[in-house]
Amino acid sequence: MCGIIGCAGTRDAVPAILEGLRRLEYRGYDSAGIAVLDGRAVERRRVKGKIRDLAEELRLHPLAGVCGIGHTRWATHGRPSEDNAHPHTDCGGAIALVHNGIVENYWALKERLKAEGHVFRTETDTEVIVHLVEKHFRGSLEEALRAAVRELEGAFAVACVSSRDPGKIVAARNGPPAVVGFGQGETFLSSDITPLLHHTRRVAYMDDGEMAVLTADGVRFSTFAGAPVAKAVETLDWEPAMVEKRGFAHFMAKEIFEQADVVRDTLKSRVSLDSGRVFLEDTGLQPGVFRRASRVVLIACGTSYHAGLVGKYMLETLARVPVDVEYASELRSRDFVMDRETLVLAISQSGETADTLAALRLAREKALAVLAVTNSPNSSMARAADGLLDLHAGPEIGVAATKTFVGQMAALALFALAFAQARGALSDGQSLELVQELQRVPHKMDRVLGSAAAIERAARRYLACEHYLFLGRWINFPIALEGALKLKEISYTHAEGYAGGEMKHGPIALIDEGMTTLAVVPRDRVHDKMLSNMAEVQARGGRILAVAFEGDDKAGMAAEEVFSIPETHQLFTPFLTVLPLQLFAYHAAAAKGLDVDQPRNLAKSVTVE
Ligand code: M6R
Repeated sequence: MCGIIGCAGTRDAVPAILEGLRRLEYRGYDSAGIAVLDGRAVERRRVKGKIRDLAEELRLHPLAGVCGIGHTRWATHGRPSEDNAHPHTDCGGAIALVHNGIVENYWALKERLKAEGHVFRTETDTEVIVHLVEKHFRGSLEEALRAAVRELEGAFAVACVSSRDPGKIVAARNGPPAVVGFGQGETFLSSDITPLLHHTRRVAYMDDGEMAVLTADGVRFSTFAGAPVAKAVETLDWEPAMVEKRGFAHFMAKEIFEQADVVRDTLKSRVSLDSGRVFLEDTGLQPGVFRRASRVVLIACGTSYHAGLVGKYMLETLARVPVDVEYASELRSRDFVMDRETLVLAISQSGETADTLAALRLAREKALAVLAVTNSPNSSMARAADGLLDLHAGPEIGVAATKTFVGQMAALALFALAFAQARGALSDGQSLELVQELQRVPHKMDRVLGSAAAIERAARRYLACEHYLFLGRWINFPIALEGALKLKEISYTHAEGYAGGEMKHGPIALIDEGMTTLAVVPRDRVHDKMLSNMAEVQARGGRILAVAFEGDDKAGMAAEEVFSIPETHQLFTPFLTVLPLQLFAYHAAAAKGLDVDQPRNLAKSVTVE
């Protein structure tokens, strides 16, 4: 939630900050602002709205300065408005500050600061930080921020500039991510690496409890206590072109079409097509972990939770191990029982989701082995876990997760196979057959993506439909959930995902001509039961769309339209069944002219609880 960016150098920083905000906009997009040191004073421009509105404001009222900070907001405290947009300033207007996170004790701090004479102009929690910096300022912005963060409770990545201590950006991190980039005669601070790629590949990740002072000459790191920190500088292997749309109308479309390659990349060097063995040594997990684990717990939120459910069915079938999948937010509130033999997987594309990170830490406190399954190898989760199962999906910019979902399923398929092999649950022949079929899956995915035009036509035909019921059973029940989530979040259409077997227990009452059922019905162990579900919907006048294997006449007879997929092993059908559902949601949203990549009220990385 929220993106922060800073640039300290010798040329005008405003274009780089504005461009950086465009790339961070997926993190929040209800208001935005920039503050720079123009030589004499702190100047800022802020707007309610998107980065394009900020760009227009800057066109009308230009700003220039060699050192500055920017922010794109996802509101937590205070409605989206120009007043509440960051950067916020102190009473004297000499300090400007941006913040990602939540200050939990802001109310008590605000009351105290008000009593001391500070004047507040916003409804935000963030404003207390800038007044604290003002209060503690004795000539050094670094020391003032250091004193301020010691009084804060909650999560924060902050950056500030001041005309009273010019030429530098001072930043602090406790929770939300912050990465520093080293350019030629300039340095950068950002919430993630995507804005940095166009300036430099050399980066260093701030850790919790650390501060950084950025100038044109370099960056100095220290702890909140003031001890110097020596940081390793890493070289990024992402290309700038990876964060461009490459001719697609939206990032989401581009990312949907990259999915077969994501599976190829996730499998690369991790499977042997001769022996069927799976190698997960790169995760850093100790080899004995699989043998010792008597239970697996998968924790995640949103789409990652759905990937976890698919993983559960794979693990149960292949490794015969008990598996629980838990919403991270719920697990944290419960008296959840985890014993020493429990192996925990935290699944998150961003690696920063606050609830998943907190649940991961809870498991670590209980001394359990934790594997982070993420697309962000330098994220908080990757750092806090014992091992990392990296998705290699490349940057995902669309707020709706697509290719990372498929990457997570591929990673979990490998994990399930490795787990089963370590416990002797699969014969060599079974392993080989499964691994060879998994390797064929990307090619089959490409074939499904090749039928995108037909799915687009169907999505346009059904545009007037306001209610959808997505039905699936067993390993495609999570795909029904995911299909419904995609349609909801980007096209704002009411959609519910249900297990086919549950239909008779309530949702069947909703079936009429105004409700379209989207049945996920590949030929698997529950195929006949799904056909019965479809017949029940048909008998009640409901409209049906289906995702089914090519040549499935029975599914074809019940449905108005069938999105066909090639046959594959029943455990791998989710790689194929999810594609028409993603495309259907995408085309429905695009046809309505909605902001597909930045749906209302959502943010890519949910770093608040
Ligand atoms: O970064 P994470 O995978 O932890 O994010 C979890 C959810 O916030 C995320 O999947 C969310 O549901 C997306 N909007 C789904 O498209």
